[in-house]
Amino acid sequence: MMLHIPQVLTAEQAGRCRQILTQADWEDGRSTAGHQSAQVKKNLQLPENSPAARELGDVVLAALERSPLFISSVLPQRVFPPLFNRYEGGMTFGSHVDNAIRPITGTPLRIRTDVSATLFLSEPESYDGGELVVEDTYGSHSVKLPAGDLIIYPASSLHHVTPVTRGVRLASFFWVQSMIRDVSHRALLFDLDTAIMQLNQEVPKSPSLVMLTGVYHNLLRQWAEP
Ligand code: NI
Repeated sequence: MMLHIPQVLTAEQAGRCRQILTQADWEDGRSTAGHQSAQVKKNLQLPENSPAARELGDVVLAALERSPLFISSVLPQRVFPPLFNRYEGGMTFGSHVDNAIRPITGTPLRIRTDVSATLFLSEPESYDGGELVVEDTYGSHSVKLPAGDLIIYPASSLHHVTPVTRGVRLASFFWVQSMIRDVSHRALLFDLDTAIMQLNQEVPKSPSLVMLTGVYHNLLRQWAEP
């Protein structure tokens, strides 16, 4: 499931991120790439545990916690500390699949990457190229979003970033381990939750809502690996 989640960061927060990122020290993006993706990855990244990465990472994590759409669609169990990348002067990231398991640096924790996420930080009109292209069974989807908007997609899908031929593309990216490992179960729960929220608006006092909410939680209980 691919989902666009608008305005995870406000315009002001995205602007502040750009300001800090513009002054930060960058390293070769291959530092966190696996063997296959290192061969096609040509971009810059903030070092994982740099002060700027951790400060901005906390801003992103706090924003995710306030996003009902993110929570409902991803059902996060653990979020990888957000990373930040920069593409300019023709930089690109060729077709690859993200590593399935990622150790969280400086901790004994590892996450299974169920969901990949890109949070766009540069305004789309400020650069050319830099589309995130995700392949799934319905074809290929090209994504370039306003600053502050998030795209989530299955970490299992092939994806690439087209060359940035003008300007600078700044983004945050991270992975999430979901409580619901099976993507089709996760999609069903999201649809059910969305329908329940709509019914809450349309027929707020309906007793059926209580039953449906019960069904939601009982499915979650059956499928979740907390
Ligand atoms: Ni990737």
